[in-house]
Amino acid sequence: MRPKVLVARRVFDSVISRLGSHFEVESNPADAVWSPAELTARLQGKQGVFVTGSARIDAALLDACPALKAVCSMSVGYNHIDVAACTARGVLVTNTPDVLTETTADFGFALMMATARRISESEHYLRRGEWKNWAYDQFTGGDVHGATLGLLGMGRIGRAIAKRGALGFGMPVIYHNRSRLDPALEAESGARYVSKAELLAQSDHLLLVLPYSPEAHHAIGAAELALMKRTATLTNIARGGIVDDAALAEALRTHVIAAAGLDVFEGEPTVHPALLKVPNIVLTPHIASASVSTRLAMADLAADNLIAALTGTAPPTAVNPQVLAGLSSR
Ligand code: DGY
Repeated sequence: MRPKVLVARRVFDSVISRLGSHFEVESNPADAVWSPAELTARLQGKQGVFVTGSARIDAALLDACPALKAVCSMSVGYNHIDVAACTARGVLVTNTPDVLTETTADFGFALMMATARRISESEHYLRRGEWKNWAYDQFTGGDVHGATLGLLGMGRIGRAIAKRGALGFGMPVIYHNRSRLDPALEAESGARYVSKAELLAQSDHLLLVLPYSPEAHHAIGAAELALMKRTATLTNIARGGIVDDAALAEALRTHVIAAAGLDVFEGEPTVHPALLKVPNIVLTPHIASASVSTRLAMADLAADNLIAALTGTAPPTAVNPQVLAGLSSR
């Protein structure tokens, strides 16, 4: 009998057919957002699940789905999955790193530029029919070229953004990360390591590119925003919850910093109402990796991982590869 898998969100037809040549597949063409209880019910008797960042996989769900052997996420981030609980139960977890790095870096840079140059704010003004005249000080923002680019976090996406800033825009690049890069990677990225306080104080444009973890919760709140330049911008393409969104809205309202660009939110898809009221912000609905080819590459990689995991070979990008040793015997 072929293994049974659940594809928890709507995804490319080509990916569903490929999975269909290996597994009995239950998919979600209507893209319904299932409650934890419904997801658990649909996972009964399934050995694998293809999820995105919107499905929470925790110990309670795993205990209620004893047949599950592999959780394959179409995302690089995996804070929606309790990896320790999966590992303890011999459930393999996979993600989709690398294939989205350059696309996400492009978007991070674009969001930072749109924020610095007030692109959304000025477009809304134009659409409201308020543009009557050119004026010398209309929507003047901060320059990007030559300004100091700050990165909180310095994984693959951070390094790709650093290169764009240093090589393309002549930006001095500074970063802070839990661990400092080795000198070769640091030189390749053109970035200088600084303390978090220095990063906040010196950045003209600060981008957040660190993974979410309980330690990173509200890494940027009122106190941190107060350390930034009044002319600085903040861009978050990492995860909701890293920024205290209420504190950010207040800092934007009172011009503690100049502007912000957010692609991720605390409690998304709900957006803090105060963020919707401030003009000096660019808001996008978690689309940093959303180019057609990258989303296809992510879905294909998640499918490759699922096929490998359930056919007894090593998935290309396992998060907890230590489970592999025991997988084939379960
Ligand atoms: C990721 O890949 O982690 C993106 O944020 C999409 O979920």
